[in-house]
Amino acid sequence: MKIGIDQISFYTAQYFLDLKTLAEARGVDPEKFYTGIGQEKMGIPPPDEDVVTMAASAAFRLKERGALEGVEAMLFATESGIDQSKAAGMFVHGVLELPARCRVVELKQACYSATAALRMAMGLVAMKPKSKVLVIASDIARYELGSPGESTQGCGAVAFTVSADPRVLAIDPEAGFYADDVMDFWRPNYLSEALVDGKYSTLVYIKALQESWKQYAAESGRSLEDFARFCYHIPFTRMAAKAHQKLAKGISDEELQRVIGESLIYSRSAGNCYSASLYVGLCSLLDNAVEDLNGKRIGLYSYGSGCVGEFFSGVVQAGYRAALLTPAHENLLAGRTELTFQQYEDIYHYGIPTDGGEYIFPQYRTGPFRFSGMQGHKRIYAKARI
Ligand code: CAA
Repeated sequence: MKIGIDQISFYTAQYFLDLKTLAEARGVDPEKFYTGIGQEKMGIPPPDEDVVTMAASAAFRLKERGALEGVEAMLFATESGIDQSKAAGMFVHGVLELPARCRVVELKQACYSATAALRMAMGLVAMKPKSKVLVIASDIARYELGSPGESTQGCGAVAFTVSADPRVLAIDPEAGFYADDVMDFWRPNYLSEALVDGKYSTLVYIKALQESWKQYAAESGRSLEDFARFCYHIPFTRMAAKAHQKLAKGISDEELQRVIGESLIYSRSAGNCYSASLYVGLCSLLDNAVEDLNGKRIGLYSYGSGCVGEFFSGVVQAGYRAALLTPAHENLLAGRTELTFQQYEDIYHYGIPTDGGEYIFPQYRTGPFRFSGMQGHKRIYAKARI
């Protein structure tokens, strides 16, 4: 029985900062960001957008198409948790008015947890092939202002359903995975920005890739030539390029662009989406590939600092294009509002109150749902007027 991704939807905030603007403000050559890091824009969530509203907006498009019928579990992957107890997915369950018969849980292991969720979802579907699981990954990448990480911020969510006989990508059973207890990137509970040992994090990312790939290749008997395209976890697009250059030693620039270029388009514009990043790359590839990928095998590498890496693969299914939300994704990215540097800093400093009082947040542009305020330590979500 084939099990995999049946439908997939991507959402990012309606605002962005061009990295040229950031470069100018920080006195840096813009080419460092555009070429050296490989990023052009970063998605910036306004005060009334958070991981719940982004997740709900991504999943709402699936609901509109009837894709959520038969969903018996929602696995919510994030490292931008909003509560120590209640799963962020419970709020999404509420605003989307999903059926009560639904298991809801939140998973965490930095940017890796959506891949853990995918594997767990496959297990649930294998036990009950007529059921579906909704996996959502939603994150806000936030570093200290003026730090080396600042240009690699971003935000976004991907929602996908996992089912038997999937329409988009059947996941292969083989996988290589690797864990190591390291401190390359982390966020203590008392901070709202991540801490990172930047250069070290890039080395650990590569080490975990090499170990995962070695295992995957031994288990599957496949070599790099068996893949039509590759999707990587994308903290910034140059990281994905460097990662592939490590595996495919001596690869030409043209061939590198051919096998990963389409997967990097959305991330160059949305920035790091942490747990969602690999799946933003998958959406970008499927939406932008001119070549028909029907029957082609895609290699995927998931990495979460701390750290866990996994290399796995999937085969694109016949007729996959009809299941995609390509125009919605393109319109979303094309319709965003550019921020000035001052607006970016003002939004950055807009903190969520922690005193348990009553607050109503200003209305910005969002998707169908917004984080409208706080009342008695409770987050309040509402339908947005759009
Ligand atoms: N024109 C063109 N290129 C330029 C340039 C210019 N004017 N100036 C600099 N560059 C190049 C540099 O040569 C360098 O390229 P190489 O890596 O090929 O040598 C590149 O731009 C970056 O320059 P620096 O190395 O000087 O950049 P930095 O030290 O200021 O920051 C970083 C880079 C450490 C990755 C930083 O962005 C960071 O800390 N980011 C957050 C951590 C991160 O994303 N880690 C990735 C792995 S961990 C992970 O994947 C999990 C996750 O999601 C966070």
